[in-house]
Amino acid sequence: SLATDYEAEGASISQGVVESNHDGYSGSGFVNYDNVTGSYVQFTVNASAAGATNLTFRFANGTTTNRPMDIAVNGTVVRSGLAFNGTGAWTTWSDATISVNLAAGSNTIRATATTANGGPNLDKLTVGTTTQPSGTPV
Ligand code: GCU
Repeated sequence: SLATDYEAEGASISQGVVESNHDGYSGSGFVNYDNVTGSYVQFTVNASAAGATNLTFRFANGTTTNRPMDIAVNGTVVRSGLAFNGTGAWTTWSDATISVNLAAGSNTIRATATTANGGPNLDKLTVGTTTQPSGTPV
C-alpha cells in the first residue's frame, strides 16, 4: 500500500501518557506528552526501499502556542523544531508532513519536544505518500 499508519499509543513513550479524553483520534487514543523539554515518542517503522518518504504526524494542540519538536531518523535529527501550532481545540486534529530519507527495512522515528510545554497530543504517524503520485494508473 502507499502509506502505513503507526499509532502513537503503540509506540515507545518517554515522559508521556496514553489518553483518550479528547475525541477524534484514531486507534485507541493518543499520547499526551509531559509538559517538559525532552519528552518523546519513538516509532519503529518499515520502509520497503531506501529513499525519500513522507512522514505525516497527526496531532492536536489546544493552546495558541507552537509546540515544536525535533524529528530524528535512526538517531540523527533531520528536522529541528518542526512546528506543531495550535489547532484551535484539543479535539481538532491536524497533519504536519515532512519528507525524510529512510533506510530499507526497519527505521526509528523519534519526535522530541524542544520546549518546556512538551509536545502536542500526538495521534499517529503515517509513513508514505499521502497524495496520489502522478502517473498512477486508475
Ligand atoms: C490539557 C489537555 C491535555 C494536554 C494538556 C497540555 O490538560 O487536556 O490533553 O495534553 O493540556 O497542555 O499538554
